[in-house]
Amino acid sequence: MFSKKIDNYTDKVHFDVDTLNIGHHSLQYKGVPIIKCPFDYVMYQMIFWEIKPDLIIEIGTNRGGSALYYADLLDIIGHGEIHTIDIDDVVFKEVKMHKRINFFRDGYQNYDLKNTEGFKKIIVIEDGSHTYEDVIASLEKFKDVVTEDSYFIVEDGIIDKLGWKKKYNGGPNKAIKEFIAGQSSYVIDRKWCDLFGINATFNTNGFLKKSGKK
Ligand SMILES: C[S@@+](CC[C@H](N)C(=O)[O-])C[C@H]1O[C@@H](n2cnc3c(N)ncnc32)[C@H](O)[C@@H]1O
Repeated sequence: MFSKKIDNYTDKVHFDVDTLNIGHHSLQYKGVPIIKCPFDYVMYQMIFWEIKPDLIIEIGTNRGGSALYYADLLDIIGHGEIHTIDIDDVVFKEVKMHKRINFFRDGYQNYDLKNTEGFKKIIVIEDGSHTYEDVIASLEKFKDVVTEDSYFIVEDGIIDKLGWKKKYNGGPNKAIKEFIAGQSSYVIDRKWCDLFGINATFNTNGFLKKSGKK
């Protein structure tokens, strides 16, 4: 009969959106901070493998963990590049040095769409300020850049569930609803939104698939 107390063992199991939010601020990719919900982290490699993009535009670089992760995934696929955009420069040098990464410092507003010419499969990932105004403006600016059967991914609609909707003037979900209602090229792809449960993602309703129909 064992009577020794086992350190660190518990029968309790508890996690939810709040604990995921706290944890996702401590994630790193190859030592570089990456602010990504773990569900989304794993879905991105599946989406990239499915689409095999030759260009990923990321709005919101921060330290660059996500850009580095995406670039390494493109290495595995064997082609493609990342255009990652921010308004600050806190980007780790190994991110800037990666051969597949181009860093743009002047915000999505000043990104020249001519930079997308010649690419055949383009994904856009919006992970910037998360205000309603910036998300809807990004959707409008980049909607024609995303190629047929590819994705415009809007991150962090989860702020509603976290109780921060007001702070972001309605945030990503308000922008997504308005955008989707006003056009017919994109649909919300529930395959990704609901993979782990209904909107079990930080990108709630945010996997927008372009059908090509106008
Ligand atoms: C949530 S962080 C990005 C996190 C990063 N994609 C990751 O997964 O690790 C949001 C970033 O958006 C940037 N940002 C804010 N306004 C922006 C704008 N107008 N254009 C591009 N980036 C912007 C912020 O400076 C911040 O670094």
